[in-house]
Amino acid sequence: MTQLKFGLMLSQEPAGIARAAHKALTVARARGILGLVRAVEHSVTERYARWQEDRFDRRYGVDTRGIEDDLASLGATGEHLPDAYGYEPVRATVFRAIMRALAIDPLRYVFVDFGSGKGRALLLAAQYGFRRVIGVELAPRLHEIARRNVQAFQHRVPRASPIELHCGDAAGLAIPDADTLLCFYNPFGARVLGKVAANIEQSYRRLPRNLAIAYRNPMHPDAFEQLPFLRRTVRNESFAVYRTRGFHEPKFDGCQLSPGRKPVPSGRGARFESCLKQ
Ligand SMILES: C[S@@+](CC[C@H](N)C(=O)[O-])C[C@H]1O[C@@H](n2cnc3c(N)ncnc32)[C@H](O)[C@@H]1O
Repeated sequence: MTQLKFGLMLSQEPAGIARAAHKALTVARARGILGLVRAVEHSVTERYARWQEDRFDRRYGVDTRGIEDDLASLGATGEHLPDAYGYEPVRATVFRAIMRALAIDPLRYVFVDFGSGKGRALLLAAQYGFRRVIGVELAPRLHEIARRNVQAFQHRVPRASPIELHCGDAAGLAIPDADTLLCFYNPFGARVLGKVAANIEQSYRRLPRNLAIAYRNPMHPDAFEQLPFLRRTVRNESFAVYRTRGFHEPKFDGCQLSPGRKPVPSGRGARFESCLKQ
């Protein structure tokens, strides 16, 4: 689809303005005025999101951007490599929308990101003041970047939640024995998701507790839809949310970033776990 580079209109160069005007005319001819308005809206939203991401990385001295499709070249190995989807960081706006939809009190929950990549979701979660934040990532080079990111972040935000990083296969990660939010940004295919869902079920049967699942870009929802102890509470074009049945959550609608919230307990620091067996 032709994307109108609206940003060029904002450029100082006359050549850039002329190119943008030409593209605007082309889009308007092909898709009408409404199509042009939508293209401009899409382009502006994209640019704003990218600007926000740059600002996030600059503010915390981290590197969470980029898309990585070749996980083998980043050192990923193991039987689940063929099922792995590539790296793309979650948008902060999407993460916040998920947190609003969940309406849980982060101070009562552990956060786990399955396929944590460079750690963007972990850093965002740590700002919300989760009890602990845990990430597992298959590609050692992404894990290493996440480790540096966590160090830089904790240096600037020492009161954020403690973050644990695991390098290994998400299918081998133990589910914490606590109320837990389990996050998936479409990290892998149905086979691995099924194994992780089986781990979640086993862990829940052994110790029933509050579990919430956030599944961004839910391509294989069956893995969770078929678990009888879960019910879907949200499904939109961007993500799905599941909760364990029968647990009563105190009403909580104050889910926002930690600056305006109760301080995160002190004495917290990053912990780096050794590699899990693959
Ligand atoms: C779309 S990215 C999500 C990144 C991160 N969760 C975020 O939101 O910023 C998916 C990640 O899952 C990782 N991944 C894929 N298969 C995995 C597996 N079996 N175990 C652990 N990580 C895996 C990929 O390497 C990639 O970094």
